[in-house]
Amino acid sequence: MKNFKSILAALVLLCGAMTAQAVDQAKMDRFIDDLMGRMTLQEKIGQLNLPVTGDIITGSSVSGDVVSKIKAGQVGGLFNMKGVQSIRALQEVAVKQSRLGIPLIFGMDVIHGYETVFPIPFAMSMSWDMDAIRNSARIASIEATADGICWTFSPMVDICREPRWGRMSEGNGEDPFLGSAICRAMIEGYQGNDLSDKSTMMACVKHFALYGAPEGGRDYNTVDMSHVRMFNEYFPPYQAGVDAGAGSFMTSFNVIDYIPATGNRWLMTEVLRDRWGFNGFVVTDYTAISEMINHGMGDLQTVSALALNAGTDMDMVADGFLNTLEKSLSEGKVTLEDIDKACRRILEAKYKMGLFDDPYRYLDAKRAKKDIYTDEHRAAARQLATETFVLLQNKDGVLPLQRTGKIALVGPLANTRANMPGTWSVAASSERYSTLLEAMRRAVGDKGEVMYAKGCNVCYDAELEKNSTMFGREMRDERPVDVMRDEAVRIAKQCDVIVAAMGEPSEMSGESSSRSELTILDAQKDLLTALLATGKPIVLLNFSGRTTVMDWEVENIPTILNVWFGGSEAADAICDVVFGDVSPSGKLTATMPRNVGQIPIYYNHLMTGRPNPKWFSKYTSNYLDVPNDPLFPFGYGLSYTTFEYSPMTLSSSTLSEGGNITASVTVTNTGSRAGAEVVQLYIRDMVGSIARPVQELKGFERINLKPGESRTVTFTINAELLKFYNKDLEHVCEPGDFEVMIGTDSRNVQRLSFTLTR
Ligand code: BGC
Repeated sequence: MKNFKSILAALVLLCGAMTAQAVDQAKMDRFIDDLMGRMTLQEKIGQLNLPVTGDIITGSSVSGDVVSKIKAGQVGGLFNMKGVQSIRALQEVAVKQSRLGIPLIFGMDVIHGYETVFPIPFAMSMSWDMDAIRNSARIASIEATADGICWTFSPMVDICREPRWGRMSEGNGEDPFLGSAICRAMIEGYQGNDLSDKSTMMACVKHFALYGAPEGGRDYNTVDMSHVRMFNEYFPPYQAGVDAGAGSFMTSFNVIDYIPATGNRWLMTEVLRDRWGFNGFVVTDYTAISEMINHGMGDLQTVSALALNAGTDMDMVADGFLNTLEKSLSEGKVTLEDIDKACRRILEAKYKMGLFDDPYRYLDAKRAKKDIYTDEHRAAARQLATETFVLLQNKDGVLPLQRTGKIALVGPLANTRANMPGTWSVAASSERYSTLLEAMRRAVGDKGEVMYAKGCNVCYDAELEKNSTMFGREMRDERPVDVMRDEAVRIAKQCDVIVAAMGEPSEMSGESSSRSELTILDAQKDLLTALLATGKPIVLLNFSGRTTVMDWEVENIPTILNVWFGGSEAADAICDVVFGDVSPSGKLTATMPRNVGQIPIYYNHLMTGRPNPKWFSKYTSNYLDVPNDPLFPFGYGLSYTTFEYSPMTLSSSTLSEGGNITASVTVTNTGSRAGAEVVQLYIRDMVGSIARPVQELKGFERINLKPGESRTVTFTINAELLKFYNKDLEHVCEPGDFEVMIGTDSRNVQRLSFTLTR
C-alpha cells in the first residue's frame, strides 16, 4: 500500500511536471492582452471582487445583489457555494449575460477533505506521513472539483505555539520544518502541477502572515515579533508554498509591524513577490480590507487603496475595491498599472485552470454522483485517521481492548455524529457519518456488549456550550446533572472497562474559538472522578482541536489516547486503534503544556543566560509553581509495540560546506505487534552570530515495522540544512560545531557532534 501510494505520488508529480510546461506563457500573454484591451476600467476592477453567496457563511457579513453584479461584470469569483447545479447557474450568468463573458472562479474552504473528511489538519500533522497527507489533498481535490469547485482556501500553514487560539486546529503545529513539508505535500496533492486538469484545484496558502501568533491567543488579535523570528520560525512554510507553485495566497487579519497584513507592502510585495518570487494572486481574508477601518488605518477608500498598493489583488467580501478604486484612480491614489497587474494575475489563474476553454469544465453532474464519498476515499481517510491518534500513556496496558465482555461507552462525544468531522468541514454531510457508539457496536458485533450513557454535558455552563456547538452541532441534554451522572456510573459498574469519549465539541476550536482555560471542562472532569471511583479501568479518548492541559488526567487516568477530530471516518478509525487492529503511531506536533501559564511553550526555544538545571533553583529561568518541562514534548507518542534504537553513527565528524555527511540509526520493533515509528533528526548550532535554538527538527522518517523487524534510517546533513537567517536576514550557515540528535521524540534523543568547515 505504502509503495503504491509513493508510486501514485510520483506519477502525479511527473504528470504535473510534464503539463506544467504545457502552459505557453506567450500564448497566455497574448490572450490576456487581447482580453484586457477590451475591458473597461470597471470590468477590470470587477475581476478583483470576490463576494460570498450560498448557504455557507464563514464571516460576519454577506454580500448583496450578487446576480446583478455578475451581469454587470463586477465579480471575479464566488466562494462557499455547494453543488454543481447552483454553481452552474451562476457561471451561466457570467458567461452568457455579462458583456465579455469572463468565467468566474468558484472557491471553497476545502480544508481537510470534502464530503470524505480527513482529520483536522492539526491531527493530520501528527501522522508525519507526507504520502498520506498528499493523498488526502488529492482526494479532496477530486471530490471538490467533481462538485464544481476549482479553488480551495488551503493549506493553512500558520505556525502556532499558542493553544489558546482555536485555529491551532487548522494548522500543522509548531514546527517550521515539518510545516513546510506538509505545505508542499498539500499543494502537490491539490494542484498536481496541472491546474487545467479537471480533477485538480488551485491552492491558496494562508494566512499570510503570522496569524498563529496572536497576543493572548485571542483570535484576530495583535501580532508583534522580530523579523529574525519571522524568517527563521514562522515564514518557512509560506515560502515552501511559493516554491511548490501555489496559485494563490490569502492575507491574514492581524497586523505585522503595526500594519495590517492586507495593507502591508513590505510583506505582500517585498517579501512575497520580490524576495520569494511569488507570481500568483493574493486574495484578502474575509472583509479584511474593511476591517482595516477598525484597525485605525482610514476610511474604506483609504484602506482599499492601501491594500492594492501593498500588492493585494482580490477583495473578499468587503466591496472596497469595487466601490472605491475608480475614485482613487481619478484622485491619483492608485495607478492603472497596479489595477491592471491585479486583474492580469486573476485572469492568468482562470486561464491556467482552463476556464476560458471551457467555463463548465468542473460542472459535470455525472462526476458529482460518482466521485464523492467513495469507498476508496473513505478507506484512505480511515487509514490516515488511525495514524493521527496520539497514545499519551497506557500505563496498565489497558489498550488495546478485547472485543469480548462489556464495555461502558460514556461521555458527551460518544454519540454525536455532527462533531466527528471537526471544525472547518463546510462540505461535510454528517448524516452519513457514524457516531462512536455505532462504530463500536459494529466493531464488537456479537462478541461483546457496548453499553452507553452520555453521563454529562460538555460543561455546566449552557451558554459556553451553546457558543462551542454552533453550526447545528448542538448537543445539550436537559436532564439534571446527577441523573445523567448516576446513569453513567450505573452502567460503568456493570462493565469490564470504561471508554470515556470526552473533550471539546468540534466548534470549541477553529475560527473565533479561543479559550483561556485548556483543561477538560468541569462537568466532564466531575464525571471522570465519579467513574474513577467505580475502580473500573478507564480509557480516556480526548477529542480536541488543540493541545489541552491534562495534568490531572495524566495523574489519575492511566490510559489516554488523544483522538483530535478524525474526520468522516473517525469513529471506525478510533475502533481500529482501540481494539488493536492498528497500533497508534501519531506523534505530537505541538508541545503539551502543564498549565496555561507555561504558554508559549515550544521545543525549539532559545537558551537563556540562566538556564535552569532543575526545578526550582533561585536566580535561574524558571517558575516557582511549575517546572519548565512540558507535560509531553514535541514529537512524543507511544505505540502498542516498542522500538529499540541502535547507537547513532555519523559518517564523519567534519562537514565541508560543499559536502555532506550522514547520521544513521537502526530501529528494531522489539514488541509483539506491528507498528509505525517516526524517527526524528534534530540539530543544534552550538555557537552563532545570533542566539540559536536548543534544537531544530531537520529530518524525519516514518517507518512501518513488523515484530522483530529492523530498519536503518539514514539522514543526510549538508550546509543547506544548517542555514538560518542572520541579523541582516541573509540566509547563511556559519562554520563551527553542531550537535546532531536522533530520537523517538524531541526530548528522548541520542547526541553526536560534528564541525562545519569552510
Ligand atoms: C477565514 C479564512 C477562510 C475565509 C473564507 C475567513 O473567516 O479566516 O480562513 O478561508 O473566511 O471562508
